[in-house]
Amino acid sequence: MAQIDYIQKIAEHGLDNDKDKLLKSLYELIDYYKNTKKINMAIQLQTAIKDAKRKSGNLTRVGSDHYFNKQNDREIDNLIIDKIRSEYKLENIIIEKNVQNELTQFIKENRSIELLQKFNLPVSNKLLLHGPSGCGKTLASYVVAGELAKEMYVVNLGAIVSSKLGETSKNITKVFKKAFHEKCIIFIDEFDSLGKIRDYNQDHGEMKRVVNTILQLFDYLPEEAIVIAATNQENMLDDAITRRFDLNLKLTIPNKEKIQSLIELTLKKGNFNKPHKRQLNDIINQCQGLSYYSIQKTLVNAIKRTLFENIESKNLQMKVDLNIWSKLIKSEKKALKKD
Ligand SMILES: Nc1ncnc2c1ncn2[C@@H]1O[C@H](COP(=O)(O)OP(=O)(O)O)[C@@H](O)[C@H]1O
Ligand SMILES: [Mg+2]
Repeated sequence: MAQIDYIQKIAEHGLDNDKDKLLKSLYELIDYYKNTKKINMAIQLQTAIKDAKRKSGNLTRVGSDHYFNKQNDREIDNLIIDKIRSEYKLENIIIEKNVQNELTQFIKENRSIELLQKFNLPVSNKLLLHGPSGCGKTLASYVVAGELAKEMYVVNLGAIVSSKLGETSKNITKVFKKAFHEKCIIFIDEFDSLGKIRDYNQDHGEMKRVVNTILQLFDYLPEEAIVIAATNQENMLDDAITRRFDLNLKLTIPNKEKIQSLIELTLKKGNFNKPHKRQLNDIINQCQGLSYYSIQKTLVNAIKRTLFENIESKNLQMKVDLNIWSKLIKSEKKALKKD
């Protein structure tokens, strides 16, 4: 089925007021996104469902299987967006050489825990990823999970912080303990949400408690567990926390060389021909200033539009139409400036 089919079903069930079927179709769409590697879409949709459930409390029909879940499990479930397995590898992410070396070392250490323990050496297992949106923070966490073949809990820190005032510390501890117990990775996106606690509580007492809780959890992190946190706003983080990470990696927007690698990587996936050198240089210049995500999005859209044009004109040469792509880049830049 294509995306539009799922959306049609969702619209039908929504208009029929059939919440069970609506939820079922929404979860089917989430699976579709996961299978087509649109992980961000899957996460966003899952968060929206969780938020809606939290607000209305009546999306799950009383008497259904969900309803009988233990209260405790339900609380933790609300804080965890997903438990995932990943097949991403280092070759799927384009990063600066020094960042790649650091990430490789991090992965190597976590593969060699026994060896390190034999020599009484600590394992680096707390990773902070920061940098602008769309530059691979989430992707890097998937790469770590994929390379280590470990399961990963994706945690909704925004939900933990805002769920119940005064219970943030307790909630964070619950999620960490669950991840420790299962020896998996815990990925905390929007780590800067911690800063929001300040807005809720004037005397900073809650904030201090939460920071202390996290520091303690970090201190007792079993060596088989891994914490990865990501933020677009590193300056929002408490210094005491930033310092406790073993590795602090900054992901940046791509330079010309990296833009070229991203184009090659993306074209390779669809077996499309690379544009000629001079034209390529021109388009790379236009892409400068955009994130990996934006560049890839405009390129994929250009490929799709080219494909339809080619089919209409019975031209089977698979070459991306650079005029189409250039227009998409311009409108992406314009859209981003509006924000
Ligand atoms: N460094 C990168 N190398 C290759 N692809 C990237 C990179 N950064 C982003 N992308 C593409 O953009 C998508 C979204 O990036 P994401 O990791 O969610 O960014 P962030 O978490 O920093 O906002 C990725 O799934 C991938 O397709
Ligand atoms: Mg992200």
